[in-house]
Amino acid sequence: VKAGPLSGRHVIVTSGPTHEAIDPVRYIANRSSGKQGHAIAAAAAAAGARVTLVSGPVTLPDPKGCAVVRVESAREMFAAVNDALPADVFIGAAAVADWRVEAAAHKIKKEQGASAPAFSLVENPDILASVARASRRPRLVVGFAAETRDVIAHARQKLNRKGCDLIVANDVSEGSGVFGGDANEAHLVSSGGVESWPRMSKEAVAARLVGRIAEIIADSEAP
Ligand code: C5P
Repeated sequence: VKAGPLSGRHVIVTSGPTHEAIDPVRYIANRSSGKQGHAIAAAAAAAGARVTLVSGPVTLPDPKGCAVVRVESAREMFAAVNDALPADVFIGAAAVADWRVEAAAHKIKKEQGASAPAFSLVENPDILASVARASRRPRLVVGFAAETRDVIAHARQKLNRKGCDLIVANDVSEGSGVFGGDANEAHLVSSGGVESWPRMSKEAVAARLVGRIAEIIADSEAP
């Protein structure tokens, strides 16, 4: 067991996008590089935690000291998270596709003169909301909110709707450079209030988030 403020704790992190197959060669996905989620997993491991990183398809190397479970779809991510429970902390940083299509067994062919195929979408499981309401609920459940406007108001609503303890909210509007970029401007929203952090690298956001999580756990155990 590695020494550190999260020593002896199990932390589950989801990261990256999910890919939802349309047919064997096509998929729909959300935009996510996985940089922020992977940085959080690395920071939690550096803080001494045992880390399970459940990652959608990304091009990043595995962070040091983490057990990495690779998945493609939201349903696979959901199953991998449930398999990894129980945990002390769950951090849902993945950009999970809200919907999937019923995938075709064979490649959908483009026929001359035929109209474009129509897809009906089916809702995916909400991993964060499910973990927050699980009988084996981790003591701390952290979600992310990528918003293009009214960032904090939306984060507050998400906190209640999803039943989590903390929301890391960021502005991903055009020009913010957050998507795929190396920096992030985050607001930490809890029922107690909002902490707005200055723009910093995704590694620094990760270290600061992990530090706050360790403090919250330590406070909750203080006599
Ligand atoms: O409301 P929205 O889905 O945008 O909330 C984003 C948060 O919920 C993120 O933490 C994301 O990882 C999580 N989420 C999830 N499963 C879904 C959709 C979102 O865990 N199906």
